[in-house]
Amino acid sequence: MSVDKQVMTRKELFLLLLCFEALRVGFSETDQQDVNALRSLMNQWQNTPPTWGQSDDPCGTPWEGVVCKNSRVIALRLSTMGIKGTLSDDLSQLSELQSLDLSFNNDLIGTLTPNIGKLKKLTTLILSGCGFTGKIPQELGTLPHLSFLALSSNKFTGAIPASLGSLSNLYWLDLADNQFSGQLPVSSGTSPGLDLLTNTKHFHFNKNRLSGTIPASLFNSNMKLIHLILDGNNFSGSIPLTIGLVQTLEVLRLGKNRFNGTVPSSISNLTSLNELDLANNNLTGAMPDLTGMNKLVYVDLSNNTFIPSEAPEWFSTIQSLVTLVISSGGLRGVVPRKLFSFPQLQQVILENNAFNGTLEITNISPQLQTVDFQNNEITSVILNSNYNGTLILVGNPVCSTNITVFCQLQKQQLSP
Ligand SMILES: *[C@@H]1O[C@H](CO)[C@@H](O)[C@H](O)[C@H]1NC(C)=O
Ligand SMILES: *[C@@H]1O[C@H](CO)[C@@H](O)[C@H](O)[C@H]1NC(C)=O
Ligand SMILES: *[C@@H]1O[C@H](CO)[C@@H](O)[C@H](O)[C@H]1NC(C)=O
Ligand SMILES: *[C@@H]1O[C@H](CO)[C@@H](O)[C@H](O)[C@H]1NC(C)=O
Ligand SMILES: *[C@@H]1O[C@H](CO)[C@@H](O)[C@H](O)[C@H]1NC(C)=O
Ligand SMILES: *[C@@H]1O[C@H](CO)[C@@H](O)[C@H](O)[C@H]1NC(C)=O
Ligand SMILES: *[C@@H]1O[C@H](CO)[C@@H](O)[C@H](O)[C@H]1NC(C)=O
Ligand SMILES: *[C@@H]1O[C@H](CO)[C@@H](O)[C@H](O)[C@H]1NC(C)=O
Repeated sequence: MSVDKQVMTRKELFLLLLCFEALRVGFSETDQQDVNALRSLMNQWQNTPPTWGQSDDPCGTPWEGVVCKNSRVIALRLSTMGIKGTLSDDLSQLSELQSLDLSFNNDLIGTLTPNIGKLKKLTTLILSGCGFTGKIPQELGTLPHLSFLALSSNKFTGAIPASLGSLSNLYWLDLADNQFSGQLPVSSGTSPGLDLLTNTKHFHFNKNRLSGTIPASLFNSNMKLIHLILDGNNFSGSIPLTIGLVQTLEVLRLGKNRFNGTVPSSISNLTSLNELDLANNNLTGAMPDLTGMNKLVYVDLSNNTFIPSEAPEWFSTIQSLVTLVISSGGLRGVVPRKLFSFPQLQQVILENNAFNGTLEITNISPQLQTVDFQNNEITSVILNSNYNGTLILVGNPVCSTNITVFCQLQKQQLSP
Protein backbone atom coordinates (compact mmCIF):
# COMPACT_ATOMS: atom_id res chain seq x y z
CA MET A 1 0.00 0.00 0.00
CA SER A 2 2.70 2.38 0.93
CA VAL A 3 4.33 1.87 -2.51
CA ASP A 4 1.04 2.71 -4.25
CA LYS A 5 0.70 5.75 -2.14
CA GLN A 6 4.14 6.90 -3.11
CA VAL A 7 3.33 6.42 -6.78
CA MET A 8 0.22 8.47 -6.41
CA THR A 9 2.20 11.18 -4.77
CA ARG A 10 4.70 11.17 -7.61
CA LYS A 11 1.89 11.41 -10.15
CA GLU A 12 0.38 14.25 -8.23
CA LEU A 13 3.68 15.99 -8.06
CA PHE A 14 4.20 15.50 -11.78
CA LEU A 15 0.77 16.97 -12.54
CA LEU A 16 1.44 19.78 -10.19
CA LEU A 17 4.74 20.56 -11.87
CA LEU A 18 3.03 20.48 -15.26
CA CYS A 19 0.41 22.90 -14.06
CA PHE A 20 3.04 25.13 -12.56
CA GLU A 21 5.11 25.09 -15.75
CA ALA A 22 2.06 25.97 -17.81
CA LEU A 23 1.32 28.82 -15.47
CA ARG A 24 4.89 30.06 -15.54
CA VAL A 25 4.93 30.06 -19.34
CA GLY A 26 1.54 31.74 -19.26
CA PHE A 27 2.87 34.50 -17.03
CA SER A 28 5.98 35.03 -19.04
CA GLU A 29 4.15 35.60 -22.28
CA THR A 30 4.45 39.34 -22.47
CA ASP A 31 1.32 41.33 -23.03
CA GLN A 32 1.12 42.16 -26.76
CA GLN A 33 0.55 45.88 -26.18
CA ASP A 34 3.75 46.05 -24.15
CA VAL A 35 5.71 44.07 -26.77
CA ASN A 36 4.55 46.52 -29.45
CA ALA A 37 5.48 49.52 -27.31
CA LEU A 38 8.97 48.14 -26.59
CA ARG A 39 9.53 47.31 -30.26
CA SER A 40 8.51 50.83 -31.19
CA LEU A 41 10.95 52.30 -28.66
CA MET A 42 13.63 49.95 -29.97
CA ASN A 43 13.09 51.10 -33.53
CA GLN A 44 13.78 54.67 -32.51
CA TRP A 45 16.81 53.89 -30.40
CA GLN A 46 20.37 52.95 -31.19
CA ASN A 47 22.54 51.06 -28.71
CA THR A 48 19.74 49.20 -26.96
CA PRO A 49 21.11 46.27 -24.91
CA PRO A 50 22.03 43.21 -27.04
CA THR A 51 19.19 41.14 -25.59
CA TRP A 52 16.63 43.57 -26.99
CA GLY A 53 14.77 42.07 -29.94
CA GLN A 54 16.31 38.62 -29.37
CA SER A 55 12.94 37.22 -28.36
CA ASP A 56 9.29 38.09 -28.81
CA ASP A 57 8.84 37.80 -25.09
CA PRO A 58 10.64 40.65 -23.31
CA CYS A 59 9.36 39.40 -19.95
CA GLY A 60 9.95 35.65 -20.41
CA THR A 61 13.18 35.55 -22.40
CA PRO A 62 14.10 38.78 -20.85
CA TRP A 63 15.28 41.93 -22.49
CA GLU A 64 17.84 43.63 -20.28
CA GLY A 65 16.41 46.39 -18.14
CA VAL A 66 12.80 45.30 -18.68
CA VAL A 67 11.09 44.35 -15.43
CA CYS A 68 7.74 42.57 -15.55
CA LYS A 69 4.97 41.44 -13.29
CA ASN A 70 2.06 39.27 -14.44
CA SER A 71 3.17 39.60 -18.08
CA ARG A 72 3.14 43.37 -17.93
CA VAL A 73 6.14 45.68 -18.09
CA ILE A 74 6.31 47.55 -14.80
CA ALA A 75 9.80 49.05 -14.99
CA LEU A 76 12.40 50.09 -17.54
CA ARG A 77 15.87 50.42 -16.07
CA LEU A 78 18.15 51.69 -18.82
CA SER A 79 20.52 54.09 -17.11
CA THR A 80 23.92 54.71 -18.76
CA MET A 81 23.43 52.48 -21.83
CA GLY A 82 24.58 54.97 -24.47
CA ILE A 83 21.09 54.92 -25.97
CA LYS A 84 20.63 57.36 -28.86
CA GLY A 85 17.30 58.57 -30.12
CA THR A 86 14.06 60.10 -28.98
CA LEU A 87 11.21 59.15 -26.69
CA SER A 88 8.23 58.19 -28.82
CA ASP A 89 4.55 58.60 -28.04
CA ASP A 90 4.27 54.80 -27.95
CA LEU A 91 5.88 54.87 -24.52
CA SER A 92 2.42 55.64 -23.18
CA GLN A 93 1.25 52.16 -24.30
CA LEU A 94 3.21 50.72 -21.37
CA SER A 95 0.17 51.35 -19.25
CA GLU A 96 1.35 49.33 -16.23
CA LEU A 97 4.72 51.11 -16.07
CA GLN A 98 5.63 52.18 -12.54
CA SER A 99 9.25 53.12 -12.95
CA LEU A 100 11.15 54.63 -15.88
CA ASP A 101 14.86 55.27 -15.56
CA LEU A 102 16.62 56.44 -18.72
CA SER A 103 19.20 58.57 -16.93
CA PHE A 104 22.67 59.35 -18.27
CA ASN A 105 22.01 58.55 -21.88
CA ASN A 106 23.47 61.76 -23.30
CA ASP A 107 22.16 61.18 -26.78
CA LEU A 108 18.58 60.63 -25.78
CA ILE A 109 17.16 63.86 -27.16
CA GLY A 110 13.98 65.63 -28.23
CA THR A 111 11.03 66.67 -26.15
CA LEU A 112 8.94 64.84 -23.59
CA THR A 113 5.62 63.77 -25.02
CA PRO A 114 2.48 64.98 -23.22
CA ASN A 115 1.42 61.33 -23.50
CA ILE A 116 3.63 60.65 -20.51
CA GLY A 117 0.57 61.82 -18.57
CA LYS A 118 -1.13 58.56 -19.58
CA LEU A 119 1.27 56.47 -17.50
CA LYS A 120 -1.04 56.68 -14.50
CA LYS A 121 0.81 54.05 -12.47
CA LEU A 122 4.15 55.85 -12.65
CA THR A 123 5.85 56.35 -9.28
CA THR A 124 9.41 57.00 -10.48
CA LEU A 125 10.60 59.03 -13.46
CA ILE A 126 14.34 59.52 -13.80
CA LEU A 127 15.59 61.26 -16.92
CA SER A 128 18.63 63.05 -15.47
CA GLY A 129 21.74 63.52 -17.58
CA CYS A 130 20.12 63.07 -21.00
CA GLY A 131 19.82 65.57 -23.84
CA PHE A 132 16.13 66.39 -23.59
CA THR A 133 14.96 69.83 -24.72
CA GLY A 134 11.78 71.90 -24.83
CA LYS A 135 9.16 72.51 -22.19
CA ILE A 136 8.17 69.81 -19.76
CA PRO A 137 4.57 68.81 -20.40
CA GLN A 138 2.09 70.00 -17.81
CA GLU A 139 0.57 66.51 -18.03
CA LEU A 140 3.37 65.39 -15.69
CA GLY A 141 1.25 66.94 -12.98
CA THR A 142 -1.50 64.39 -13.59
CA LEU A 143 0.38 61.31 -12.36
CA PRO A 144 -1.28 60.60 -9.03
CA HIS A 145 1.36 58.21 -7.66
CA LEU A 146 4.51 59.98 -8.80
CA SER A 147 6.93 60.20 -5.91
CA PHE A 148 10.34 60.58 -7.58
CA LEU A 149 10.82 63.06 -10.42
CA ALA A 150 14.38 63.75 -11.55
CA LEU A 151 14.88 65.77 -14.73
CA SER A 152 18.23 67.36 -13.83
CA SER A 153 21.07 68.04 -16.27
CA ASN A 154 19.10 68.23 -19.49
CA LYS A 155 18.33 71.25 -21.67
CA PHE A 156 14.73 71.78 -20.69
CA THR A 157 13.41 75.31 -21.15
CA GLY A 158 10.24 77.20 -20.30
CA ALA A 159 8.54 77.59 -16.96
CA ILE A 160 8.07 75.06 -14.19
CA PRO A 161 4.45 73.96 -14.77
CA ALA A 162 2.13 74.93 -11.92
CA SER A 163 0.50 71.51 -12.40
CA LEU A 164 3.44 69.87 -10.60
CA GLY A 165 1.81 71.26 -7.46
CA SER A 166 -0.85 68.53 -7.84
CA LEU A 167 1.66 65.73 -7.25
CA SER A 168 0.55 65.12 -3.71
CA ASN A 169 2.74 62.02 -3.30
CA LEU A 170 5.91 63.64 -4.59
CA TYR A 171 8.96 63.05 -2.41
CA TRP A 172 11.78 64.19 -4.73
CA LEU A 173 11.65 67.03 -7.26
CA ASP A 174 14.93 67.61 -9.07
CA LEU A 175 14.93 70.09 -11.95
CA ALA A 176 18.52 71.28 -11.45
CA ASP A 177 20.96 72.19 -14.21
CA ASN A 178 18.57 73.00 -17.05
CA GLN A 179 17.44 76.24 -18.66
CA PHE A 180 14.13 76.65 -16.86
CA SER A 181 13.00 80.28 -16.65
CA GLY A 182 10.15 82.29 -15.15
CA GLN A 183 8.94 82.34 -11.58
CA LEU A 184 8.29 79.60 -9.06
CA PRO A 185 4.57 78.79 -9.34
CA VAL A 186 2.49 79.05 -6.17
CA SER A 187 -1.15 78.14 -5.85
CA SER A 188 -4.01 80.54 -6.31
CA GLY A 189 -7.71 79.85 -5.99
CA THR A 190 -7.76 78.29 -9.46
CA SER A 191 -4.29 76.91 -10.00
CA PRO A 192 -2.02 74.54 -8.09
CA GLY A 193 1.52 75.49 -7.09
CA LEU A 194 4.65 74.23 -5.41
CA ASP A 195 3.39 75.36 -1.98
CA LEU A 196 0.93 72.44 -2.10
CA LEU A 197 3.74 69.87 -2.19
CA THR A 198 3.61 69.18 1.51
CA ASN A 199 5.08 65.68 1.20
CA THR A 200 8.06 66.74 -0.88
CA LYS A 201 11.44 66.67 0.84
CA HIS A 202 13.63 67.85 -2.00
CA PHE A 203 13.33 70.95 -4.17
CA HIS A 204 16.46 70.96 -6.34
CA PHE A 205 16.17 73.89 -8.76
CA ASN A 206 19.79 75.11 -8.86
CA LYS A 207 21.61 76.11 -12.07
CA ASN A 208 18.67 77.36 -14.11
CA ARG A 209 17.44 80.77 -15.24
CA LEU A 210 14.60 81.11 -12.78
CA SER A 211 13.76 84.67 -11.79
CA GLY A 212 11.35 86.92 -9.96
CA THR A 213 10.83 87.05 -6.23
CA ILE A 214 10.23 84.04 -4.01
CA PRO A 215 6.56 84.41 -3.05
CA ALA A 216 5.96 84.46 0.72
CA SER A 217 3.18 81.92 0.15
CA LEU A 218 5.65 79.34 -1.17
CA PHE A 219 6.42 78.33 2.42
CA ASN A 220 4.13 77.00 5.12
CA SER A 221 4.47 74.99 8.29
CA ASN A 222 2.90 71.86 6.72
CA MET A 223 5.90 71.44 4.47
CA LYS A 224 8.47 68.73 5.12
CA LEU A 225 11.23 70.07 2.88
CA ILE A 226 14.73 69.12 3.93
CA HIS A 227 16.60 70.42 0.87
CA LEU A 228 15.77 73.77 -0.69
CA ILE A 229 18.34 74.34 -3.40
CA LEU A 230 17.89 77.47 -5.49
CA ASP A 231 21.47 78.65 -6.07
CA GLY A 232 22.69 79.75 -9.47
CA ASN A 233 19.48 81.35 -10.74
CA ASN A 234 18.37 84.94 -11.21
CA PHE A 235 15.99 85.31 -8.27
CA SER A 236 15.58 88.82 -6.87
CA GLY A 237 13.79 90.61 -4.06
CA SER A 238 14.10 89.63 -0.44
CA ILE A 239 14.20 86.23 1.22
CA PRO A 240 10.67 85.81 2.61
CA LEU A 241 10.12 85.80 6.36
CA THR A 242 8.00 82.66 5.89
CA ILE A 243 11.15 80.58 5.28
CA GLY A 244 11.23 80.26 9.09
CA LEU A 245 8.07 78.14 8.93
CA VAL A 246 9.82 75.22 7.23
CA GLN A 247 11.55 73.90 10.31
CA THR A 248 12.47 70.59 8.70
CA LEU A 249 15.05 72.29 6.45
CA GLU A 250 18.56 70.85 6.59
CA VAL A 251 20.10 72.35 3.46
CA LEU A 252 19.31 75.89 2.30
CA ARG A 253 21.21 77.13 -0.74
CA LEU A 254 20.24 80.51 -2.11
CA GLY A 255 23.68 81.58 -3.37
CA LYS A 256 24.48 83.12 -6.76
CA ASN A 257 21.21 84.99 -7.23
CA ARG A 258 20.22 88.64 -6.92
CA PHE A 259 18.48 88.50 -3.55
CA ASN A 260 18.53 91.85 -1.76
CA GLY A 261 17.19 93.33 1.46
CA THR A 262 17.96 91.97 4.92
CA VAL A 263 18.08 88.28 5.81
CA PRO A 264 14.87 87.65 7.80
CA SER A 265 15.47 86.98 11.49
CA SER A 266 13.15 83.97 11.19
CA ILE A 267 16.08 82.12 9.66
CA SER A 268 17.24 81.33 13.19
CA ASN A 269 14.09 79.21 13.51
CA LEU A 270 15.79 76.69 11.21
CA THR A 271 17.63 74.81 13.92
CA SER A 272 17.99 71.60 11.88
CA LEU A 273 19.99 73.37 9.20
CA ASN A 274 23.34 71.75 8.29
CA GLU A 275 24.16 73.87 5.30
CA LEU A 276 23.50 77.55 4.65
CA ASP A 277 24.64 79.22 1.44
CA LEU A 278 23.62 82.85 0.97
CA ALA A 279 26.79 83.84 -0.91
CA ASN A 280 26.97 86.02 -3.98
CA ASN A 281 23.75 87.96 -3.59
CA ASN A 282 23.06 91.58 -2.74
CA LEU A 283 21.89 91.06 0.82
CA THR A 284 22.13 94.07 3.09
CA GLY A 285 21.49 94.91 6.72
CA ALA A 286 23.22 93.13 9.57
CA MET A 287 25.02 89.87 9.01
CA PRO A 288 22.42 87.20 9.94
CA ASP A 289 22.41 86.00 13.53
CA LEU A 290 22.88 82.25 13.42
CA THR A 291 23.04 81.83 17.19
CA GLY A 292 21.34 78.60 18.26
CA MET A 293 21.64 76.94 14.86
CA ASN A 294 23.87 74.35 16.42
CA LYS A 295 23.81 71.80 13.61
CA LEU A 296 25.39 74.03 11.01
CA VAL A 297 28.29 72.33 9.30
CA TYR A 298 28.72 74.57 6.27
CA VAL A 299 28.12 78.33 6.16
CA ASP A 300 28.88 80.61 3.21
CA LEU A 301 27.79 84.24 3.43
CA SER A 302 30.38 85.64 1.01
CA ASN A 303 30.04 88.56 -1.38
CA ASN A 304 27.01 90.38 -0.05
CA THR A 305 26.80 93.96 1.18
CA PHE A 306 26.20 93.49 4.89
CA ILE A 307 26.71 96.42 7.26
CA PRO A 308 30.32 96.27 8.49
CA SER A 309 30.52 94.70 11.95
CA GLU A 310 32.73 92.81 14.33
CA ALA A 311 32.65 88.99 14.18
CA PRO A 312 29.17 87.88 15.28
CA GLU A 313 28.72 86.00 18.56
CA TRP A 314 28.03 82.72 16.79
CA PHE A 315 31.68 82.59 15.65
CA SER A 316 32.32 81.40 19.20
CA THR A 317 29.32 79.13 19.72
CA ILE A 318 28.52 76.94 16.68
CA GLN A 319 30.72 74.00 17.62
CA SER A 320 29.43 71.88 14.71
CA LEU A 321 31.08 74.00 12.01
CA VAL A 322 33.31 72.28 9.46
CA THR A 323 33.51 75.07 6.88
CA LEU A 324 33.05 78.79 7.40
CA VAL A 325 33.32 81.03 4.35
CA ILE A 326 32.67 84.75 4.54
CA SER A 327 34.65 86.46 1.85
CA SER A 328 34.01 90.22 1.61
CA GLY A 329 31.69 90.23 4.61
CA GLY A 330 32.61 93.63 6.03
CA LEU A 331 33.97 91.98 9.18
CA ARG A 332 36.47 93.84 11.37
CA GLY A 333 38.07 93.83 14.79
CA VAL A 334 39.80 90.85 16.35
CA VAL A 335 39.06 87.28 15.22
CA PRO A 336 37.55 85.30 18.13
CA ARG A 337 40.15 82.65 18.91
CA LYS A 338 37.50 80.16 20.07
CA LEU A 339 36.51 79.66 16.43
CA PHE A 340 39.62 77.61 15.65
CA SER A 341 38.92 75.15 18.46
CA PHE A 342 35.61 73.77 17.11
CA PRO A 343 36.30 70.02 17.03
CA GLN A 344 35.33 69.34 13.38
CA LEU A 345 36.54 72.58 11.87
CA GLN A 346 38.45 72.15 8.61
CA GLN A 347 38.22 75.36 6.64
CA VAL A 348 38.04 79.02 7.62
CA ILE A 349 37.95 81.40 4.67
CA LEU A 350 37.57 85.00 5.82
CA GLU A 351 39.47 86.77 3.06
CA ASN A 352 38.75 90.36 2.05
CA ASN A 353 37.50 91.58 5.40
CA ALA A 354 39.05 94.06 7.83
CA PHE A 355 40.06 91.84 10.74
CA ASN A 356 42.89 93.50 12.65
CA GLY A 357 45.15 93.10 15.67
CA THR A 358 46.60 89.70 16.53
CA LEU A 359 45.34 86.55 14.87
CA GLU A 360 45.52 83.89 17.57
CA ILE A 361 45.38 80.32 16.28
CA THR A 362 46.39 78.49 19.41
CA ASN A 363 43.70 76.08 20.56
CA ILE A 364 43.13 74.33 17.24
CA SER A 365 40.80 71.68 15.90
CA PRO A 366 42.68 68.49 14.97
CA GLN A 367 40.91 68.65 11.59
CA LEU A 368 41.95 72.18 10.67
CA GLN A 369 43.42 72.33 7.15
CA THR A 370 42.86 75.75 5.66
CA VAL A 371 42.87 79.20 7.22
CA ASP A 372 42.62 82.03 4.71
CA PHE A 373 42.78 85.62 5.95
CA GLN A 374 44.04 87.10 2.72
CA ASN A 375 43.52 90.87 2.49
CA ASN A 376 42.68 91.78 6.07
CA GLU A 377 44.45 94.14 8.49
CA ILE A 378 46.14 91.62 10.73
CA THR A 379 49.32 92.95 12.33
CA SER A 380 50.61 89.86 14.14
CA VAL A 381 50.01 86.13 14.45
CA ILE A 382 50.29 83.62 17.26
CA LEU A 383 50.22 80.15 15.76
CA ASN A 384 50.12 76.76 17.47
CA SER A 385 53.37 75.06 16.46
CA ASN A 386 51.49 71.80 15.77
CA TYR A 387 49.44 73.42 13.04
CA ASN A 388 50.50 71.81 9.76
CA GLY A 389 47.74 73.07 7.43
CA THR A 390 47.57 76.08 5.16
CA LEU A 391 47.56 79.64 6.44
CA ILE A 392 47.26 82.50 3.99
CA LEU A 393 48.03 86.01 5.17
CA VAL A 394 48.94 87.76 1.93
CA GLY A 395 47.67 91.32 1.94
CA ASN A 396 47.91 91.89 5.71
CA PRO A 397 50.20 94.35 7.50
CA VAL A 398 51.89 91.38 9.19
CA CYS A 399 53.40 90.52 5.83
CA SER A 400 55.20 93.82 5.51
CA THR A 401 57.00 93.26 8.83
CA ASN A 402 57.63 89.52 8.64
CA ILE A 403 57.45 88.26 5.08
CA THR A 404 58.53 84.75 6.09
CA VAL A 405 55.19 83.95 7.69
CA PHE A 406 52.59 82.53 5.30
CA CYS A 407 52.77 85.54 3.08
CA GLN A 408 52.73 83.81 -0.26
CA LEU A 409 49.68 82.53 -2.08
CA GLN A 410 50.83 78.94 -2.48
CA LYS A 411 50.28 76.44 0.30
CA GLN A 412 52.79 77.03 3.09
CA GLN A 413 53.86 74.43 5.63
CA LEU A 414 55.30 75.53 8.93
CA SER A 415 58.94 74.51 8.81
CA PRO A 416 60.08 72.40 11.77
C1 LIG B 1 18.28 88.51 -14.56
O1 LIG B 1 17.11 89.31 -14.54
C2 LIG B 1 17.31 90.66 -14.94
C3 LIG B 1 15.97 91.38 -14.85
O2 LIG B 1 15.39 91.19 -13.60
C4 LIG B 1 17.81 90.70 -16.37
O3 LIG B 1 18.12 92.05 -16.70
C5 LIG B 1 19.06 89.86 -16.49
O4 LIG B 1 19.46 89.80 -17.84
C6 LIG B 1 18.82 88.46 -15.98
N1 LIG B 1 20.06 87.72 -16.01
C7 LIG B 1 20.15 86.50 -16.52
C8 LIG B 1 21.49 85.85 -16.46
O5 LIG B 1 19.20 85.91 -17.01
C1 LIG C 1 9.11 79.03 13.73
O1 LIG C 1 8.50 77.78 13.40
C2 LIG C 1 7.26 77.51 14.05
C3 LIG C 1 6.80 76.14 13.63
O2 LIG C 1 6.68 76.05 12.25
C4 LIG C 1 6.24 78.58 13.70
O3 LIG C 1 5.07 78.38 14.42
C5 LIG C 1 6.81 79.95 14.01
O4 LIG C 1 5.92 80.93 13.54
C6 LIG C 1 8.15 80.13 13.31
N1 LIG C 1 8.73 81.41 13.65
C7 LIG C 1 9.16 82.22 12.73
C8 LIG C 1 9.74 83.49 13.24
O5 LIG C 1 9.12 81.98 11.54
C1 LIG D 1 15.59 94.90 -4.23
O1 LIG D 1 15.62 94.93 -5.65
C2 LIG D 1 14.40 95.33 -6.23
C3 LIG D 1 14.58 95.21 -7.72
O2 LIG D 1 14.92 93.90 -8.07
C4 LIG D 1 14.06 96.73 -5.81
O3 LIG D 1 12.80 97.10 -6.35
C5 LIG D 1 13.99 96.80 -4.29
O4 LIG D 1 13.80 98.14 -3.89
C6 LIG D 1 15.28 96.27 -3.69
N1 LIG D 1 15.11 96.21 -2.25
C7 LIG D 1 16.04 96.59 -1.41
C8 LIG D 1 15.71 96.46 0.04
O5 LIG D 1 17.13 97.00 -1.79
C1 LIG E 1 24.86 94.16 -6.14
O1 LIG E 1 24.60 95.53 -6.31
C2 LIG E 1 25.69 96.27 -6.79
C3 LIG E 1 25.26 97.71 -6.86
O2 LIG E 1 24.64 98.09 -5.69
C4 LIG E 1 26.13 95.74 -8.14
O3 LIG E 1 27.30 96.41 -8.55
C5 LIG E 1 26.43 94.26 -8.05
O4 LIG E 1 26.71 93.75 -9.32
C6 LIG E 1 25.25 93.53 -7.46
N1 LIG E 1 25.60 92.15 -7.26
C7 LIG E 1 24.88 91.16 -7.74
C8 LIG E 1 25.35 89.80 -7.43
O5 LIG E 1 23.88 91.36 -8.41
C1 LIG F 1 33.33 86.47 -4.37
O1 LIG F 1 33.27 87.22 -5.58
C2 LIG F 1 34.44 87.13 -6.36
C3 LIG F 1 34.29 88.13 -7.50
O2 LIG F 1 33.08 87.98 -8.15
C4 LIG F 1 34.62 85.71 -6.85
O3 LIG F 1 35.77 85.56 -7.63
C5 LIG F 1 34.74 84.81 -5.63
O4 LIG F 1 34.80 83.45 -6.04
C6 LIG F 1 33.54 84.98 -4.71
N1 LIG F 1 33.79 84.25 -3.49
C7 LIG F 1 33.02 83.29 -3.04
C8 LIG F 1 33.46 82.60 -1.80
O5 LIG F 1 31.98 82.95 -3.60
C1 LIG G 1 40.63 97.08 15.02
O1 LIG G 1 39.41 97.49 14.45
C2 LIG G 1 38.48 97.99 15.40
C3 LIG G 1 37.18 98.17 14.72
O2 LIG G 1 37.34 98.54 13.38
C4 LIG G 1 39.03 99.24 16.02
O3 LIG G 1 38.12 99.76 16.96
C5 LIG G 1 40.34 98.91 16.70
O4 LIG G 1 40.94 100.08 17.20
C6 LIG G 1 41.29 98.23 15.75
N1 LIG G 1 42.40 97.70 16.48
C7 LIG G 1 43.65 97.81 16.08
C8 LIG G 1 44.69 97.19 16.97
O5 LIG G 1 43.94 98.37 15.02
C1 LIG H 1 48.74 67.27 10.60
O1 LIG H 1 48.30 67.21 11.92
C2 LIG H 1 47.20 66.35 12.13
C3 LIG H 1 46.70 66.52 13.55
O2 LIG H 1 47.71 66.92 14.42
C4 LIG H 1 47.66 64.93 11.84
O3 LIG H 1 46.58 64.04 12.01
C5 LIG H 1 48.15 64.86 10.40
O4 LIG H 1 48.65 63.58 10.12
C6 LIG H 1 49.21 65.90 10.15
N1 LIG H 1 49.53 65.91 8.73
C7 LIG H 1 50.76 66.01 8.26
C8 LIG H 1 50.88 66.05 6.76
O5 LIG H 1 51.74 66.09 8.98
C1 LIG I 1 58.46 86.09 12.04
O1 LIG I 1 58.12 84.73 11.71
C2 LIG I 1 58.87 83.74 12.39
C3 LIG I 1 58.43 82.38 11.92
O2 LIG I 1 58.65 82.23 10.55
C4 LIG I 1 58.67 83.86 13.89
O3 LIG I 1 59.49 82.94 14.56
C5 LIG I 1 59.00 85.28 14.35
O4 LIG I 1 58.66 85.45 15.70
C6 LIG I 1 58.21 86.32 13.54
N1 LIG I 1 58.59 87.68 13.91
C7 LIG I 1 57.71 88.61 14.22
C8 LIG I 1 58.26 89.96 14.54
O5 LIG I 1 56.49 88.41 14.23
